[in-house]
Amino acid sequence: IEYDLVVTNGICVSASDVAAYDVGIKDGKVLVLAPSGSLAEAATRRLIDAEGGYVMPGGIDCHVHLQEPSLFGDGCSADNYETGTRSAIAGGTTTIVAFAPQQKQHGSLLAALEATHRLAAGNCYCDYGFHLLVSNPCSSALADLQRLRADEGVTSLKIYMTYEALQLRDDQILSTLLAARQNHILTMVHAENGDVLRWLTDQLEARNLVAPKYHANSRPPVLESEATNRAIALSSLVADTPILLVHVSDPGAASRIREAQTQGQPVFAETCPQYLFLTRDSLDAPGFEGAKCVCSPPPRTEADQRAIWAGLRNGTFAVLSSDHCPFRFDDDVSGKKTCVSATYPVGRFRYIPNGLPGIETRLPLVFSARKLELTKFVEVTSTNAAKLYGLYPRKGALLPGLSDADLTIWYPQGKEPNLVLTNAMLHHDVDYTPYEGRRVANWPRYTVLRGKVVWDRDRGGIVGQKGDGQFVKRGTSSLANVWGVVEEAGPFDVEAL
Ligand code: URP
Ligand code: ZN
Ligand code: ZN
Ligand code: ZN
Repeated sequence: IEYDLVVTNGICVSASDVAAYDVGIKDGKVLVLAPSGSLAEAATRRLIDAEGGYVMPGGIDCHVHLQEPSLFGDGCSADNYETGTRSAIAGGTTTIVAFAPQQKQHGSLLAALEATHRLAAGNCYCDYGFHLLVSNPCSSALADLQRLRADEGVTSLKIYMTYEALQLRDDQILSTLLAARQNHILTMVHAENGDVLRWLTDQLEARNLVAPKYHANSRPPVLESEATNRAIALSSLVADTPILLVHVSDPGAASRIREAQTQGQPVFAETCPQYLFLTRDSLDAPGFEGAKCVCSPPPRTEADQRAIWAGLRNGTFAVLSSDHCPFRFDDDVSGKKTCVSATYPVGRFRYIPNGLPGIETRLPLVFSARKLELTKFVEVTSTNAAKLYGLYPRKGALLPGLSDADLTIWYPQGKEPNLVLTNAMLHHDVDYTPYEGRRVANWPRYTVLRGKVVWDRDRGGIVGQKGDGQFVKRGTSSLANVWGVVEEAGPFDVEAL
């Protein structure tokens, strides 16, 4: 047998084990895990000596916004499918799931998917899938869910409880959950109370409190915990329809999620690096610089960060995603963070587009923080994402014969780059990183996509091509037997309430 690629002398890390193995790769798949060193002399087209560094399943980032229309005026988010996925592989991520936004007027979810396929096809450096972003859950749109799952490989959707253009009423949420339940589709929920935050924003504006730091005042933790509680209640009302609370920042929301999980409800949660590494003080930088850290929910306190780390360790959070949704700080394109344009002449926090870049820094920042066991790190950044979104075990694992040969290989002890993060190092199309100046101990040395080296930090950096990334059709969520819980709960029966 001749392998296409052999990785020798690595320490393989999965969600359950840390053990020295050589990896033999053929036709884009992991073919064998062999005793360490045993493949060093094997016939192979390419050999990588990992020199004792960690070898992990490639990072999976299932919360990524690329080329999405801005909710704050004209323009769209800064990275397109080319630059966003280029940034992904440079940071060790081999699969993303991005959003296909429904056009409110057109309604059709299949049309939204088609339009997003056109943006991505041939442009991606890593593999990719889509979630539907549902802003108008009318019956004709929800009727598309069946084909989305059965024919298109789209098995998740996202809904919003905030943002004027996207916010759903509770009855619309219920209709969406019921249709998702019938089609075994996982519903991601952005849980912030949009009515309250609009009211608080008006209160702040009336007092001329409009600087970026007031973004945090407009979105206090209770807004998030209230909406989280409501989402959980609505899910239980529709006979335990599975939901995933995205970008959770508030420990109160996390406690409510944990309580629901303890009661056996199929409630899952995600958090993001911004809630581990930024605080609301980062919104209070000189001038308008605080805008660089405006995202929703906002970064909170250091005590809250500690609680979110604890929630990752104890399993409250199944996944750690980036929520990469960048806007340039300052250029001539509308949608920029400075929001000084003809439409928005004064820099008011209400008009700062929400979202941060973070697709490339997610793995290095969290790995370097050394606050998670290695197996837990792989679980929340890769394996659980694959299980949650129906990609497992093709993605998120190194199972011989089953898994794609998607790898992140780190520098070994003694060779860690130990660098200071600067925006100039990154491969996104954004003019800043909120993590400028931060020290990271390690960085992915190689990223391998289906057996092809696409990132080689010491020899060429990005060595893959756009178009290497393929669309991945997804199956239904397999995490914690989520549809089994649904079967057990029985069909939704209004007479039984
Ligand atoms: O501020 C954020 N999180 N922007 C991205 C869009 C979203 O709500 O996920
Ligand atoms: Zn319609
Ligand atoms: Zn969101
Ligand atoms: Zn998001």
